[in-house]
Amino acid sequence: SSPRGTSGAEAVAPSRTVAVIGAGTMGQGIAQVALLAGHRVRLYDVAADQAEAGAATILTRLERLVEKGRLDESTRGAAALRLERATDLAELADSALVVEAVVERLSVKQELFGALEEIVADDCLLATNTSSLSVTAIAGALRLPGRFVGLHFFNPAPLLPLVEVVSGFATDEDAATRAYETAKAWGKTPVRCADTPGFIVNRIARPFYAEALRVYEERGADPATIDAVLRESGGFRMGPFELTDLIGQDVNEAVTRSVWESFFQDPKFTPSLAQRRLVQSGRLGRKSGQGWFPYAEGTERPEP
Ligand code: NAI
Repeated sequence: SSPRGTSGAEAVAPSRTVAVIGAGTMGQGIAQVALLAGHRVRLYDVAADQAEAGAATILTRLERLVEKGRLDESTRGAAALRLERATDLAELADSALVVEAVVERLSVKQELFGALEEIVADDCLLATNTSSLSVTAIAGALRLPGRFVGLHFFNPAPLLPLVEVVSGFATDEDAATRAYETAKAWGKTPVRCADTPGFIVNRIARPFYAEALRVYEERGADPATIDAVLRESGGFRMGPFELTDLIGQDVNEAVTRSVWESFFQDPKFTPSLAQRRLVQSGRLGRKSGQGWFPYAEGTERPEP
């Protein structure tokens, strides 16, 4: 069978409204992508000031794209007019697609989709941007789980082309195909996959971090050396230590933990004690000014 499926379902039309729930890092990025693909986008967050701040950030980014010559002014102006903030879930009623990017907590996502299903039409496509929770588990609370799919963007969403389109147990072929075609229409490179822990990228990347941490823990080499080796002879853009400083040590550790637990604590995925210590001491990476490496304000590269 073809990887994109055979249902013949089409992308969500640009004339239809897309709702984005959660106006944080990922929600802002996804909203920007949908906006530039021509949709009216309604941005909602439980924290009203965050919805406001998220929308303001998107508008500023669009202006920067114009300054850099990557977007023309009339496209920016039209896109800005299509960006709306919602202060109540009920305002999302006419959405054709909802993409959820709220905190990575199963009960929060289940509750949210349960409430949402009472509001949107039965043919509204429901998607989660979860990076490590089970799509099947989130859909467990739904009346119509067939239209529920994982739509996993990577950070920063406007720049990175890959999107994992994840089918849970109950996801029907039509929903997965619609999500796939929509991501493609948004200029992304979607791939279809099933609901296995960590999906494709976050699972296969685990040993990249874990083995590097083990070499460090065994005093095989220091982080700067391991990073340099992987950059220079492995061809990676960043080594595992500088990359986890960028992602956030807490975020990276949480994904490792989730994949490990999902595989019934398979030792292959055991979290690292050294990384645990880093998180416990608040050395979260760039965002805290210190992780494996120190970061002065505005540092582009780590100073080993
Ligand atoms: P974030 O913390 O930047 O934003 C989350 C937002 O959701 C916050 O503004 C919060 O106020 C809001 N929120 C919390 N509960 C809510 C609710 N019940 N209803 C509406 N809004 C609510 O988080 P981030 O990093 O954007 O992550 C969001 C999701 O995207 C998570 O599931 C995460 O696993 C996933 N993800 C994160 C990536 C990353 O690199 N940060 C990459 C890919 C996926």
